[in-house]
This record gives sequence, C-alpha cells and structure tokens, in this order.
Amino acid sequence: MDLKERGSFSSKFGVIAAAAGSAVGLGNIWRFPYVAGENGGGAFLLIYLLFIVAIGIPVMLSEFTIGRNAQRNAFGSFKKLAPNSKWSFVGLMGIVAAFLILAFYSTIAGWTLEYIVKAVQDGFSAGNTSEIFTTFSTSTFKPLLWQFVFMGLTAWIVFAGVQKGIERYTKILMPLLLVLILVIVVRSLTLDGASKGLKFLFAPDFSKITFGVVLEALGQAAFSLSIGMGALITYGSYIRKNNNLGKTAVQVASADTLIAILAGVMIFPAVFAFDPSLATEGPGLVFVVLPKLFLSMPGGYVFSILFFVLLAVAALTSTVSVLEVVVAYFSEELNMSRGKATIISSLAIWLFGILATLSFSDLSDVTIFGSTFFDIMNYSSANILLPLGALLIVAFLGWVIKKKLVHDELSNSGELKVKYFKVFYFIIRYLAPVAIAIVFVHDIYKVSVKDNSDDKSQNTEIVESKEAVEVVE
Ligand code: PFF
Repeated sequence: MDLKERGSFSSKFGVIAAAAGSAVGLGNIWRFPYVAGENGGGAFLLIYLLFIVAIGIPVMLSEFTIGRNAQRNAFGSFKKLAPNSKWSFVGLMGIVAAFLILAFYSTIAGWTLEYIVKAVQDGFSAGNTSEIFTTFSTSTFKPLLWQFVFMGLTAWIVFAGVQKGIERYTKILMPLLLVLILVIVVRSLTLDGASKGLKFLFAPDFSKITFGVVLEALGQAAFSLSIGMGALITYGSYIRKNNNLGKTAVQVASADTLIAILAGVMIFPAVFAFDPSLATEGPGLVFVVLPKLFLSMPGGYVFSILFFVLLAVAALTSTVSVLEVVVAYFSEELNMSRGKATIISSLAIWLFGILATLSFSDLSDVTIFGSTFFDIMNYSSANILLPLGALLIVAFLGWVIKKKLVHDELSNSGELKVKYFKVFYFIIRYLAPVAIAIVFVHDIYKVSVKDNSDDKSQNTEIVESKEAVEVVE
C-alpha cells in the first residue's frame, strides 16, 4: 500500500470512539467481572485501578506517540524509528499476540451472537440459565459457526477501511451501550441483597492479595485497555497531528474503566441476589447471570435483545482493532492488497480459533499442564504477551527514542503545554518497566515452585476464591 494513501480518523470524537471502541469490549463486560470474581473482588479492583493509572495510561500514550510519529503499522513503526535494530521484533510479537487474542476472543464473541438469537426467541424463559449456557457452549457445530460469522463481520469492517468502516460504526454504538448498561445497573441494584454484591466488588480484603492476583490485575488492565500489542500504535498512526494525545489517552482509559466498573456493578449485585457461588463461575459468568437478570426486569425481553446486540457490537469494535494490526502489517510490509490481507489473516485466525472454541466441548479433555487451549490462549496473551509488550514499548520510548522527539510529539511541536511530561517520562523510563518486571519475575518464580506442588496449590486457589465469596455472604 502506498503510505500516502493511509487513512486517518476525521474528527476528535472519531478518534476517541475508535480507540474506546477498541478498549471497550468483552474485556470489560465478560472478562473483568469473572476475573474480579475469581480473584477476590475489592482487593483486585483496587490493584487494577492502580495499574490503569500508573501503567496503563502511560503505555497507551506511548503507543499513540510511536504510531503517530512513525505513521506506520506496529512493526513498521519500530523499523522506522529504530532502523537496523532488533526493536521491530516487538512489532512481530504484537502480531503473534493479535493472532492469539482473536483466536479465543472470537469464541466468546460468537457466543454473543447465539445469545442474540436466544434473546429474540425468548430462549431464557425456562429460567435454567446455567443449563442453557452449558448445553450451548459444550456443543460442537453452533459455536464454530458463530465464531466463523463473527470473524466474517470483523473482516468486512476492516476491509471497508479506517474511516468508512471503523469510525462510522463506533461513533453511534458506543454511547448507546453505555446508556443500556446504566439501565441494567439500576435493575441490578434494586434486587434484594444487592448490597452484598457491592460489598464484594468495592470492599477490599487485603488478605486476598497475592502475586497471582497482582499479575491477573496487570493482565486484565493491559487487555482491557488494548495495550501491549500495537493496536494503539496502529490506531495512533491514523490520528491527525492536531490531536491532543495526552487528553485522548486519559479520556479513552476513563471510558474503559468506567464501563468495566459499571459491568461489575451490573453483575455482582445480581450474582449475590441469585446465587453467590456464581461469583467464581469463570467464563460463563455473564452468560448465566444476565439472562436471569433480564427475566426479573420489566421489559426484560427487549432489554436482553438490545444488550446482546450491543455486547456483540462492543466485541466487534475490539476485534476490528486487533485484526487491523495484522492487516496493516501485511498490507504495508508485505505489499499485499488490503482485501487479500484481510481474507488471509481472518481465515487463518478462525482456523486457529477452532482450538479455542472446541476447548469447551470436543477438546475439553485435551490439556497442557492442566489447561485447555482456550485457557492457555486467554492466560498467555493477557498475562504474558501484553504486559511484556507493554514493558518493551515503554522501554523503547523511554530509552531508545530521543526525549525531544517524544516531547515534540506530545506537545504537537510546541503548540500544547505538556505539564505532565516529567511524570510521564519518569514512568516510562523507570516505574512501568520495573513494576512490570517485578510482577513477572515473581510469577515465573511462583510457576516454577508450583510445578512441584501442582494440583495442591491449584486446589488451594479454588478453595481460597470460594472462601472469598463466603466471607462476604
Ligand atoms: N480491549 C479489548 C476488550 O477489553 O475487550 C480487547 C483487546 C482489543 C485486547 C485489542 C487487545 C487489543 F489489542
């Protein structure tokens, strides 16, 4: 692709909508509640928020800075800013992370499509939402079909290009999602016993904090903000030169965090009102709890359809940003046409993603170190590849790129005042790399210790998280 032809976002709101569209997705509504539930609730939330502010926003800003300055895809950006060095490897790592994330993300995104159909057919009215979920997720054909359809939708939007595709849809649908979540939150909060759910989510029990919980919080923060794999480098390259990058990063991260917390407030009161043991349910959490919630709501039929449609859209604006990383790389670095790059990469990801989808059915017995393919893709992308990517990205901007270039990019060549520059620069040079490294090293140590006492410690973790639920009861 001729670099002059690169698209760009046409307005400030368009930039925020697209970047927030990438950030807000299943990570907030599906992943955040169940990971928080499994890791003790309030204490997890606190560390998560700390990571968003101290590491997440600076990494997001670093990605925007790299992308807008280089005007290239994730791989090409490193190549341009540090020619003849090994840094473009970080871009390649991002492409691998994109493959892994889309492969399992599209499984869950496919589930949302089935749930739209079920909602329309009034398929939850029998009330046994756990059974409905298990029957569907453990079947073979339908989940695979929906995953395929979802990848097709993603490919279609990516193919339409940056402005016509990505920006047009996200601008309208993201605000709508927020409104709908607020309506559902009101219902959840008015259920009997809602306060226990709020206590679980907001009252931190510091005895629950372990390094495992800290790593999960870091991974969740990276996953939710879409940082660490170059999605925001790629989007940054479509941001115009007059945009205030610092402000954009803060706005996007705030929107993302707000929606994650609202998702928690939507789910946990309902969990505790219906059945507290659901708090540690895992990936099925929202699919089991929300239909129950809709059944208890006046107008629940309409709300359930709207909700799953918007959840699918939120997922779509995220999958689009992940696929865009791969497509921009193929088309700019390997000189493929955008169409060909889109078709080849989405088909390859879908094929690979079959492993994730079947992890709930035919391949549920196939495990590596006790984890299914789905678990491995989910865990290793969020908790290993993204934080590692984030570490390398900030280290690159802090230590390899000239300070003046960073300042010029953030201040739009002197037009804006960047009062936060000193703090930001300190974070990207020292705080973020060191903090991420500490969490990592400790976790690797823990894994090697755990290898020796494997099952025992896994059981303790489950018992611990079940206790976490009982304590609040
Ligand atoms: N941030 C998205 C979510 O919360 O659903 C998922 C995601 C998108 C992760 C893009 C990583 C990424 F690069």
